[in-house]
Amino acid sequence: MTRTIKTVGVCGAAGTMGAGIALVAARAGFRTISYDMKEDALERSAKQSAAFLDKSVERGKLEASKRDAIVGAMSRTTDISALEDCDLVIEAVFEDLATKQKLLDRLDAVCSEDTIFASNTSTLSITEIASGSKVPTRVVGMHFCLPAQLMKLIEMSPGILTSEETFESAWAWTKACSQIPVRTQDKPGFILNALLVPFNNDAIRALEAGVASAADIDKAIKAGLGYKMGPLELIDLIGLDTQVRLCEAFYPITLDPRAATPPLLRRMVAAGLLGRKSGKGFFDYEGNAMYGA
Ligand SMILES: NC(=O)c1ccc[n+]([C@@H]2O[C@H](COP(=O)([O-])OP(=O)(O)OC[C@H]3O[C@@H](n4cnc5c(N)ncnc54)[C@H](O)[C@@H]3O)[C@@H](O)[C@H]2O)c1
Repeated sequence: MTRTIKTVGVCGAAGTMGAGIALVAARAGFRTISYDMKEDALERSAKQSAAFLDKSVERGKLEASKRDAIVGAMSRTTDISALEDCDLVIEAVFEDLATKQKLLDRLDAVCSEDTIFASNTSTLSITEIASGSKVPTRVVGMHFCLPAQLMKLIEMSPGILTSEETFESAWAWTKACSQIPVRTQDKPGFILNALLVPFNNDAIRALEAGVASAADIDKAIKAGLGYKMGPLELIDLIGLDTQVRLCEAFYPITLDPRAATPPLLRRMVAAGLLGRKSGKGFFDYEGNAMYGA
């Protein structure tokens, strides 16, 4: 049996992933409440989402009436209690176990016992995150890809205690959003990041070792392997700070030296070079437009 989902909450909705996840939910007709602790960032991300939808209309990919319906389905808040009626809450807050566990604890106090909690974590254990909730059976991994509003894949991972009803309901919801779910085990990095985090770090180390320029490293990967984006351009999109968090979460679990934070990456983050979100990373960016807009 699957649970009926009508209202969806997104935590960390002003972030790189949260804004796109909220668009996926609202586009599929779900009432969507975007929650973040930063009000100004929430406003900024709402403007970027509106610009993305306007561009989609201009390009003939979306009808104007559908854009209006999506905007009408979305609301935003810095008050966590506004999530009380949500049937599904998806968290996309910082990649930090304690932050996520604390958030689930707060959500326990706000939401009904039937609410499903989904985590967009890239590397952390769903079972460990779920231990932050008094009802771990309701917690499931739901890993979107960047940019969430354009990428179809969602890695769905049950923790040890996740109930089959929770998993099936969350899976059905991803299908209702026209996404493509795949089932993975609760293993570090699931499928994508287990492959991608070490690979992206290799590209940074190649740059640091002077093998080639950033542009040529990306050009080689695109022209030689047929990838749409080079690894350095992808890290700029992911966020260099997020790549550090991914390494810091991933390395202690796997002890894979390729997953350790490359020194150049650490220095760039210290210098405020975070990629697209800061206007400069491995490459320069004008403005801070949402990818795909
Ligand atoms: N960036 C990516 O490419 C990517 C891809 C897939 C999954 N993820 C995962 O998504 C999650 C978010 O990553 P991101 O890159 O979007 O991060 P981000 O730093 O861009 O955004 C995180 C957002 O969460 C908010 N936040 C932090 N703690 C909060 C709290 N306690 N309550 C409410 N809001 C809070 C912040 O204000 C910020 O707006 C992480 O778990 C990450 O591993 C990231």
